[in-house]
Amino acid sequence: MVKAEIISGKEVAAEKRASLKEEVRVLQETEGIIPGLTVILVGDHPASRSYVTAKHKACAEIGMHSEIIELEESVSEAALLAEISRLNEDDTVHGILVQLPLPGHIDEQKVITAISPEKDVDGFHPINIGKMMTNQETLLPCTPFGIVEMVKSKGIDIKGKHVVVIGRSNIVGKPVGQLFLNEDATVTYCHSRTVNMQQLTLQADILIVAVGRANFISAEYIKEGAVIIDVGVNRLPSGKLCGDVVFEDALQKASYVTPVPGGVGPMTITMLLHNTVQAAKNVRK
Ligand code: GUN
Repeated sequence: MVKAEIISGKEVAAEKRASLKEEVRVLQETEGIIPGLTVILVGDHPASRSYVTAKHKACAEIGMHSEIIELEESVSEAALLAEISRLNEDDTVHGILVQLPLPGHIDEQKVITAISPEKDVDGFHPINIGKMMTNQETLLPCTPFGIVEMVKSKGIDIKGKHVVVIGRSNIVGKPVGQLFLNEDATVTYCHSRTVNMQQLTLQADILIVAVGRANFISAEYIKEGAVIIDVGVNRLPSGKLCGDVVFEDALQKASYVTPVPGGVGPMTITMLLHNTVQAAKNVRK
């Protein structure tokens, strides 16, 4: 029996993008500001290229400027840092995003830290992470931010709820736990070294799964009535995309579940648009 309601990221994203489009129109009409995003793509990682193209297209759809700078796989760290420095100084560029992962000879942390915190629309700069951790207003990491927005869109109460996060990446796991903590949830992190994970996931009112393994979470890990957020995007041998959660199991046990595709993915890009508009507005403060 299907019990859970599906949280369509696609629908929540479409609504949010429509309101951003209006915001961009007003900004241009009243102040002559067109929010602009520059994405740097190093090398030719096929998945990265498709993400970057999707970001570029999403900007155009809401009337924003965007530019993709493509650099050779062999580009030196110094040349990449010089490009970032040039973009930091360019007033028409409000957001800078360096698509990850970077080739092995480039220090990712050094690159992230080189981006001006005011233009760091990924929310990865240590200054922005520090502000997030101390609950100050700042540019927030897009996937975690999108997850919180999706949960809120359904009017789901977060305060006092037990949120269990599986995965501890810098991009998703760690920051999503922090954002839910900022919303007064009780947060538990699980990862590859966690002992008896099932005992923890069975206590989760909201279970966020970001491990990158198809069918990692099945019925016996899900508490009746839980909210299940599936961040995984895995390609099966058949070519079909699937998440980290057995979707059918979640449908039967959970109260809400996010699908893959059409769940968290569309929200990530939407929050990137939001951050870029915010960065453009922040310049005049
Ligand atoms: N690679 C995978 N996800 C992301 C992301 O959110 N931002 C950047 N810059 N690179 C990524």
